[in-house]
Amino acid sequence: AAGVEAAIEAFREGSPVLVHDAADREGETDLIYPAGAVTPEDVSRMRNDAGGLVCVALSDAVADAFDLPFLEETLDHPASAAHELGYDERSSFSLPVNHRDTYTGITDEDRAKTITELAAAAENPAETDFAEEFRAPGHVHVLRAAPDLVADREGHTELGIALAEAADREPAVVVCEMLDDVTGEALSPDDAQAYAERHGFPYLEGSEVVAYVD
Ligand code: 5RP
Ligand code: CA
Ligand code: ZN
Ligand code: ZN
Repeated sequence: AAGVEAAIEAFREGSPVLVHDAADREGETDLIYPAGAVTPEDVSRMRNDAGGLVCVALSDAVADAFDLPFLEETLDHPASAAHELGYDERSSFSLPVNHRDTYTGITDEDRAKTITELAAAAENPAETDFAEEFRAPGHVHVLRAAPDLVADREGHTELGIALAEAADREPAVVVCEMLDDVTGEALSPDDAQAYAERHGFPYLEGSEVVAYVD
């Protein structure tokens, strides 16, 4: 449990962790931050060092309070009819959003603004009028976690929110896949671990998080 405890401590300090889901799932390592701590420099690290899609996962309760649907259910287009994934039963994508106080929404500052405002909203859903604060479509992908987290689904969405809850933080985390700049594939677990060590970030297997919160 030492790895998970280091990750919880990192989250308390607002620092990121790396989580590899499982070799028989996506086989991806995501760089994950507590959303409330994200700065423009952190967005720069995500797009330069990680290179995947920058997403904010919210707990099911928060997504429900804001009426945030699964995108798959809300799209009225044949492309969304049979949403077949090779690695799980369904994706966790909800709406892509921008905070209304952004311009294009894509700059490091704009995305950090959207991300930290999503964290503030998640901390206090009762005081938040979501549509007054955010517009969709936008440039930060909201992900909606399963209600019972890793008991329901063992994606980065749920693994990240489980860590945020264990750290007593708002149920909002940013996730971004680590990709290999040379091959374009998911960064290998060995390379992800070496990156984590170089930067002093905890590296975890999803199974360690599942065992810890069980
Ligand atoms: C969105 C994704 C990522 O894999 C992200 O980690 C969320 O998905 P999941 O919960 O299925 O792991 O595809 O960029
Ligand atoms: Ca890169
Ligand atoms: Zn993932
Ligand atoms: Zn992915």
